[in-house]
Amino acid sequence: MINSLISIRDISNAGILGLFELAQEYNAQGRKRLDVAHNAIIATLFYEPSTRTRMSFEAAMLRLGGQVISMADPGASSAVKGETLADTVRIVESYADIIALRHPREGAAQVAAEHAGVPIINAGDGAREHPTQTLVDLYTIYREIGRLEGVTVALCGDLKHGRTVHSLAQGLARFGAHMICVAPPGLELPPALVATLTQNFGVNIDSFSTLDAAPLGDCDALYVTRLQKERFADPAELEKVRHSYVVSHDSLTRLRTNAIILHPLPRVDELDFALDGDPRAAYFRQAAYGVPVRMALISALLGLRDIANLYETVHGEWGRYPRLYNCENARCIINAEPGIPIRTEVRKDGTRRCGYCEKMEAACQR
Ligand code: NCD
Repeated sequence: MINSLISIRDISNAGILGLFELAQEYNAQGRKRLDVAHNAIIATLFYEPSTRTRMSFEAAMLRLGGQVISMADPGASSAVKGETLADTVRIVESYADIIALRHPREGAAQVAAEHAGVPIINAGDGAREHPTQTLVDLYTIYREIGRLEGVTVALCGDLKHGRTVHSLAQGLARFGAHMICVAPPGLELPPALVATLTQNFGVNIDSFSTLDAAPLGDCDALYVTRLQKERFADPAELEKVRHSYVVSHDSLTRLRTNAIILHPLPRVDELDFALDGDPRAAYFRQAAYGVPVRMALISALLGLRDIANLYETVHGEWGRYPRLYNCENARCIINAEPGIPIRTEVRKDGTRRCGYCEKMEAACQR
């Protein structure tokens, strides 16, 4: 796997801060077209809808002076003829120097990185991770609050299915942030992720089912997410939680005047439009930071700019395990792609998970 970004855990804290320094440098250049990547092509390979992520990757590459090729509609690609993801990336690597991939299957970016000879950037793999959104989210906090260490962030919404939250929680934990989770019953953070956060980072997570109950006055940032309706396996479950939370001006009277409101966007009905004029509303600035942050990431992964110690070398407590099992997660890439090896990872305590989607073997809790 050459210089790929699959999980936010792949990049070190020093690497994240190095990327932010470079992003500041690019941001200061405004809308100028630079000559950093004039021979390079990015392929944006998107098997799921996107506005911000795909277009900000493309704008980033164009502003670096590079070129873009795009597959934005899987219905118009050879996927409908039955081509596997592994075969597709083997083809696209000969057309492009770096690939940004979004796919509905958990673990898809991992499979792509194992088959491509160019860097793969995970632009969202099902409900699993969305590490570049996390870089943008952390950059927004870093710029607007002034630090990452020790910040207090409330994560509000569909924390079960939201891949941005799954990456962000790990990123925040690594910087020693304090997290407050606010989710309607049934939409809490996956237990396996909570276990990782508490066991690996000693994070204490306070959980609430409504914003009214949460200590909003302690927060530097409130991160709101939409209900991920496309990820519900059971439509009846979706109906139970539809319209179950709305962040309005009135619900934020306890949020400090110097706190910020973040949202990866798109919003649907969970974030009141009346908040847009509130100086704490930072979500449109957050979306705009997507370009300089992705410029920094592309330059680093292509080796056009050097970021010291970019990659995380300590990968936690999971090791490879020779015994194989079938992943029970219907949304795992392993259950859609023929011909890729099943892989198991094991923790010291003997618990096992799938090496692609990271769901626990026994309980499949994620
Ligand atoms: C997010 C995603 O695709 O996960 N959008 C984005 O990339 N900014 C969040 C969402 O769709 O709710």
